[in-house]
Amino acid sequence: MSQTHSADLVFFGGTGDLAMRKLIPAIYAASRGGKSMDDVRVIGCARQNLSTEQYHSLLTEQVPEFLGDSFDAAAWAALLARVSYVTVDAAKPEDFARLGEAMHPDVNRARVYYLATTPTLFTPICQNLAAAGLVTPASRVVLEKPLGRDLASSRTINDAVGAIFAEHQIYRIDHYLGKETVQNLLALRFGNAMFEPLWSRAWIRDVQITIAEQVGVGGRGEFYDNTGALRDMVQNHLLQLLCIVAMEPPATIDADAVRDEKVQVLRALKPYTLAEVQSHTVRGQYRAGAVAAKPVPGYQDEEGITSGSRTETFVALKAELANWRWAGVPFYLRTGKRMEQRLAEIVINFKQVPHSIFESSVGAPENNRMIIRLQPDEGLTLQLQAKTPGEGMKLQEISLNLNFADTAKARRQEAYERLLIEVIQGRLTLFVRRDEQEAAWKWVEPIMAGWDASPEPPKPYNAGTWGPAASAALVGRDGSTWPEES
Ligand code: BG6
Repeated sequence: MSQTHSADLVFFGGTGDLAMRKLIPAIYAASRGGKSMDDVRVIGCARQNLSTEQYHSLLTEQVPEFLGDSFDAAAWAALLARVSYVTVDAAKPEDFARLGEAMHPDVNRARVYYLATTPTLFTPICQNLAAAGLVTPASRVVLEKPLGRDLASSRTINDAVGAIFAEHQIYRIDHYLGKETVQNLLALRFGNAMFEPLWSRAWIRDVQITIAEQVGVGGRGEFYDNTGALRDMVQNHLLQLLCIVAMEPPATIDADAVRDEKVQVLRALKPYTLAEVQSHTVRGQYRAGAVAAKPVPGYQDEEGITSGSRTETFVALKAELANWRWAGVPFYLRTGKRMEQRLAEIVINFKQVPHSIFESSVGAPENNRMIIRLQPDEGLTLQLQAKTPGEGMKLQEISLNLNFADTAKARRQEAYERLLIEVIQGRLTLFVRRDEQEAAWKWVEPIMAGWDASPEPPKPYNAGTWGPAASAALVGRDGSTWPEES
């Protein structure tokens, strides 16, 4: 039987896009599973002057489209009965006093302050919560990305929030850590004995991590133009995936045991020299093209983009880890908007057999690959060499395919649902610790500086493709290919 949770969830940015698309749907989905969420109350906060009834109408207008088939009028009404609204201007202490009145008086009850606002409001919100006496030992604060745009600005945010909340009360979201397959990767690596002996430079030739999206910048043009793919995806999601692939086995699944190992990986990332920024990274920007057979405009013609913008919508890079396990093994990371397919996957390319016993007419056996798929479906593929049926010895590649949805019939949780429940339960394993976040910024900073100093603009690629040709050349130089090319 599932545990009953008790908490007040306060969503700052309660009328915003994230609340509508992800947070309220996550609570709705969690509530549908049974009674475990009956004692979880939601308080939406934003500057807009609304009554709770008006907030309910706004939610009813905007959220159901994100619930798909799961919408059920009775379940929705039951959720709204636990949702209230308080008008809060982050800069007005008196608004926080009113928020206090709306909260449950029990100081031992979990209070989750979810800051789904621009980071410039993080400091005043935390300070005003403290001044109003709303920060109890059972309080937690959840910080949405972007957490700064470089090391210095992320430190400023961390210092300000850290002055009010202890590190164990701070939950930095990287929603990729909430995805089922990311957790499954932990289960595969550390729940099976057969992978660990192969999991190093002795048997792995390279690792490729791709997060490709078909969407463009949508309605977030202005934000994105100031951010770019390196800050939006590489500094967080891709480096977190790299950490989970490359980390040493932690002693336990406890938050600090796991995070200690992840931070070691980030610290082992070799910093780029200026010359390596040129040779080891590719940045691209999409031009007009067609995605899923529909024509789409180029980045420069999207709403909110400054003309002549040099913001990258695609990044491919070759990272290396300076440690015993991984020395000499390239980790290729790649992400882009308006790519040919929506795809997130980790490819482990094993080395070729050290000696082929087959006649040269058969050719050398292809190397084995393990593909861990996060999106669009969740699964694992193992590519092996087998004999082609019939006379004579000829090899062919076969795939062992495991679709996680087929193996476990249980309802899949969305990343935000899982992460919200983890916050309510006070478990930090799936959240990013301050030192991890800062180590990640430290590693990407020379890339940002190298690009800023370069007279070369990002390389153009047609929307609906796999990015600039230089991306294939980056892996090709080392004798590798991206999965779609092989
Ligand atoms: C977000 C980025 O963190 O992740 C977006 O800001 C991106 O630009 C999104 O689209 C991708 O997440 P997912 O879960 O859809 O792969």
